[in-house]
Amino acid sequence: MADTRPTPWLEEWDRGQHAYFGDRHKAAHFAALARSLEPHLPAGGVLLDYGPGDALHVPAVVPGCRQVVLCEAAPRIRAGLGDRFGEHPDVRVIGPADLPDLAPGSVDVVLVQSVLQYLTAPELDVLLAEAARLLPPGGVLLLGDLVAPGAGPGADLAELVRFAARGRFLRSALARLAALPASTYARTRRRHGLATHTVDALTATVAAHGFDAHPLGRNLGNNAARWTLHARRR
Ligand SMILES: C[S@@+](CC[C@H](N)C(=O)[O-])C[C@H]1O[C@@H](n2cnc3c(N)ncnc32)[C@H](O)[C@@H]1O
Repeated sequence: MADTRPTPWLEEWDRGQHAYFGDRHKAAHFAALARSLEPHLPAGGVLLDYGPGDALHVPAVVPGCRQVVLCEAAPRIRAGLGDRFGEHPDVRVIGPADLPDLAPGSVDVVLVQSVLQYLTAPELDVLLAEAARLLPPGGVLLLGDLVAPGAGPGADLAELVRFAARGRFLRSALARLAALPASTYARTRRRHGLATHTVDALTATVAAHGFDAHPLGRNLGNNAARWTLHARRR
């Protein structure tokens, strides 16, 4: 895979994580992701996490795998991951341009969580081709936090408020809510929107790359307004 060209969304993520209502929200977000990943971890195998962001879930995920490979396209986020995990024996940090160095069939699970909404259709095709190369028959591709057509920012906001109430950070979340429309995240979302996916269309797209897929009953992570496709390499 070539190096990822800068896009407005990639730049937005690299600029700072304005989608979170502070550190408690971010910690709770990644803790929920780690919990939901438990049944999908490749015991004794390799997990490739594509677009992991700040990856606060990694310490909880590492014991369930032999190795975790974090592939992050945003340069500043990747540098931060390198600082945090560079010395970790079971974690490797790479960029998309390094993916061709991984041997075919050398990964057991590819996780792409909360990334597809930022990719164009050609970018998704490149990613799926790479996932198909890296996974052996039976290997699993998890495409999580997918946005269904028609699910606007209101659905995400309602989920966030519910999540904040459950996680006991509602007060700090509400304090930051007023500033949200003026945030660079909200501006980027208004200007560029998010890519959306239907079960039928995405199942057909991954099938064309050699995967049999079905939607999971519940999304990975905390946002019940979004959905996850579980795809197995044929
Ligand atoms: C919402 S964060 C997801 C972080 C983590 N996976 C999670 O679920 O919390 C979005 C991720 O997508 C990545 N991303 C955005 N646009 C991208 C692009 N065009 N190509 C590759 N990655 C991209 C960002 O760098 C960031 O790591």
